[in-house]
Amino acid sequence: MDQEFWDEMYRERRWSGRPNGALCVEVEDMKPGKALDLGCGEGGDAIWLAGKGWKVTAIDISPVALARAAEAAGPASGIDWQQTDPRVSPPPSRSFDLVSAQYFPVLHEEDHATLRGVLDAVAPGGTLLVVSHLIEGSPPEGWSGPDPSEFYQPSEIAELLDDDWVIERHENRARVDVPHDNPHHADIVLRARRLR
Ligand SMILES: C[S@@+](CC[C@H](N)C(=O)[O-])C[C@H]1O[C@@H](n2cnc3c(N)ncnc32)[C@H](O)[C@@H]1O
Repeated sequence: MDQEFWDEMYRERRWSGRPNGALCVEVEDMKPGKALDLGCGEGGDAIWLAGKGWKVTAIDISPVALARAAEAAGPASGIDWQQTDPRVSPPPSRSFDLVSAQYFPVLHEEDHATLRGVLDAVAPGGTLLVVSHLIEGSPPEGWSGPDPSEFYQPSEIAELLDDDWVIERHENRARVDVPHDNPHHADIVLRARRLR
């Protein structure tokens, strides 16, 4: 699942361009600040956030996806599109009022270094929002992608949050606005706030 893999996946337009439903539900009423969209893909979430007044940094490993996202957003969005892999360059520490990871795969590491870098990017008082597909079985029947058990699931992320955090949501729920033809109809939503 390197850059080549994702560039190939984005050879043709891949997603709907609409923001993810769980993001809209969770963020709609938040006061806008600085947001980091991890694995922004074709930019639907970042563009929605910018439209809500957030100052958005949107990162992805795929320049193909980023080019499409930047074109969809136009220069007026003010979104900072960056080709970045947080395994190599962790985001700046304690910098974002919202860190959103929507279906963003982080491979397990013994020292949790990448994940810790991502958590560290949340500013005091800020929110971490992780949304993953609810997947039964490992790998699930009929699943053709990489084995999801290789990636951190929201429950594992929740376990790594210490007393500096309060978990505001951790639940399975039906996916809002499922894109056409998408086989994933349920989400796991983890929303946590950094206290200090
Ligand atoms: C399943 S897609 C989700 C895209 C978008 N968040 C959405 O919900 O439509 C995962 C995204 O993460 C990006 N990605 C995967 N591994 C990455 C990495 N190590 N660093 C940065 N981006 C990565 C992919 O290019 C892809 O756009």
